Amino acid sequence: DASLEAVEAILNILIEISRLDTGRLEPDITSFPLADIFERLKVEFAPLAREKAELELRVVATRAWVCTDRRLLRRVLQNLLANAIKYTPRGKVLLGVRRHGSELTIEICDTGPGIPKSKRAVIFKEFERLEETAASVRGLGLGLSIVERIGKVLGHQVDLRSVPSKGSIFSVRLPRAAPGVVESAPVSVPAGRIAGLTVLCIDNERSVLDGMRVMLSGWGCKVMTAQNAAEAVDRLQPGHAPPDIILADYHLDSGTGLDAVAAVRAAKRSHTPVIVISADHTPEVQREIRKHGHAFLRKPLKAAALRALMHQLTAQRPVAAE
Ligand SMILES: Nc1ncnc2c1ncn2[C@@H]1O[C@H](COP(=O)(O)OP(=O)(O)OP(=O)(O)O)[C@@H](O)[C@H]1O
Ligand SMILES: [Mg+2]
Repeated sequence: DASLEAVEAILNILIEISRLDTGRLEPDITSFPLADIFERLKVEFAPLAREKAELELRVVATRAWVCTDRRLLRRVLQNLLANAIKYTPRGKVLLGVRRHGSELTIEICDTGPGIPKSKRAVIFKEFERLEETAASVRGLGLGLSIVERIGKVLGHQVDLRSVPSKGSIFSVRLPRAAPGVVESAPVSVPAGRIAGLTVLCIDNERSVLDGMRVMLSGWGCKVMTAQNAAEAVDRLQPGHAPPDIILADYHLDSGTGLDAVAAVRAAKRSHTPVIVISADHTPEVQREIRKHGHAFLRKPLKAAALRALMHQLTAQRPVAAE
């Protein structure tokens, strides 16, 4: 039954989105030839492209190797190719790759209607579709929101360039791997390994704290949040053990995350491990973080990297039972 199938498809996508958001979808990072995915996509999308008499689909051969999650990358490219073919009435859709030092950019180019500058942010939101295309082409408006979420989980930058009425280029930037070795990178730490940890998050932005709470509790952690040093000390109940780990933003509204961490450590007379998370990677900030012996992660935060580092910094200590 077609309508039931459609409902099931929507549910599956929404489940996938929530798994991505809560970090329950575990990336499986390996090195593999990009051609593996390109070849499959070529076969998979040939019929859709053939339905359009005036459209040519070209997949450029590549010998590059990449380091990423095979299934999730394929999902990203499927969504981008499906869009390019769906929304381009005639001309060409091209899937290709460019090198940038240690990185690669996969590009999906089309000669479709293009996307006005004012709409480029909105189309990545769920259920958003452009009026120009919504009437003639079926869709839920979920494809690009999945692309964006997977990009965040994997730490791959997704970009869009477009000239209205000429076409669009969606691109995905990811690490290149040395050809020849198929290996499982040990970076993937299952959420279960950090379940039960008590985590203190310090960030001046409420929305960031809310996001961290959702993600970390999804991994089974107990979460406390604070917007500044005073609040952080306030969260610590007398007689209770200190948190197992502190995640601190560097720039707070008053003072820095390092001040807040120092206040917490002093109050608890403990040496709780610390990860400083910041968009600021100027040498001065880096030096100061290192001077205090803290670990550092860049914003935007990669869930897999955070989990791996949290595990590494807390692995020696006994993890409290649920
Ligand atoms: N290559 C493109 N050219 C022109 N417009 C595009 C292109 N890709 C996406 N869009 C616009 O962005 C909107 C959102 O895309 P998205 O993939 O999120 O949803 P969808 O294709 O409408 O539905 P779904 O992917 O869930 O089937 C599309 O409806 C379309 O208006
Ligand atoms: Mg789509």
